[in-house]
Amino acid sequence: MAVEPLFAQTARQLGVFHSLIKKIARPNPGFSNSLSVAESRYIQSLHEPDELQNPDRLVGQFLPLLRRWYCIGLTPSQVALLRTTPFYYYLDARTRYYDKVFLDALANEAHVIINVGCGIDTRAYRFAPVLRQKGVQVLECDQPQAIQVKQGMAKRLGACGHVTYVALDLNDATWPDFELWLVTHTTAKVLVMMEGVSPYVNHETYRGFLHLSRAELVERQSCCL
Ligand SMILES: C[S@@+](CC[C@H](N)C(=O)[O-])C[C@H]1O[C@@H](n2cnc3c(N)ncnc32)[C@H](O)[C@@H]1O
Repeated sequence: MAVEPLFAQTARQLGVFHSLIKKIARPNPGFSNSLSVAESRYIQSLHEPDELQNPDRLVGQFLPLLRRWYCIGLTPSQVALLRTTPFYYYLDARTRYYDKVFLDALANEAHVIINVGCGIDTRAYRFAPVLRQKGVQVLECDQPQAIQVKQGMAKRLGACGHVTYVALDLNDATWPDFELWLVTHTTAKVLVMMEGVSPYVNHETYRGFLHLSRAELVERQSCCL
């Protein structure tokens, strides 16, 4: 690629995604935490030895270019400082645990995986070959602006025909787009996953959402988390 188009592309990437992300992260602590856990996963995938290496190297491609360079350039003493936070290792264990949940669902013939509060989760893309091979659909849900940004980021990875994006706010009392999706996709087995979402939402409406999901899915012998 010629230098000028490459430069223009990089500048666009830096500008558009960085300003969009900053705009939605400011009023939304849940989404800014999604960015910071995504960064930690990337750092762990780059700077940790094999046994502690986070399997999510792909998440780097979802980060704004400047943040990606920042993560790559961390010094050993900066990484050592990050390791002093207990959450750092918990996050590594959490990624492996939910990877297993996700892959177990595929092995148990789930037809759909619904990821609520998906943030910058990459499983729909990291496991794309097996998802496509098994014909499994992934529904990614998050607050309207967050899911819009996620969809834009995912486009950079190329064809993602097995992923659908639905906006929902767990602090609302109803979720018409989500319900419509459920009733128009009456597939047998569904895994519903929510990783690191409950601390950010109103517990009353969240309970309502769980009731709705259960009512819609339980007759389908779904595995619901
Ligand atoms: C800490 S992040 C976790 C993201 C992702 N599940 C992960 O583990 O990397 C919390 C996520 O919850 C989402 N979230 C926060 N409040 C929400 C709400 N009211 N409705 C839907 N999603 C919400 C945020 O946008 C963010 O993506």
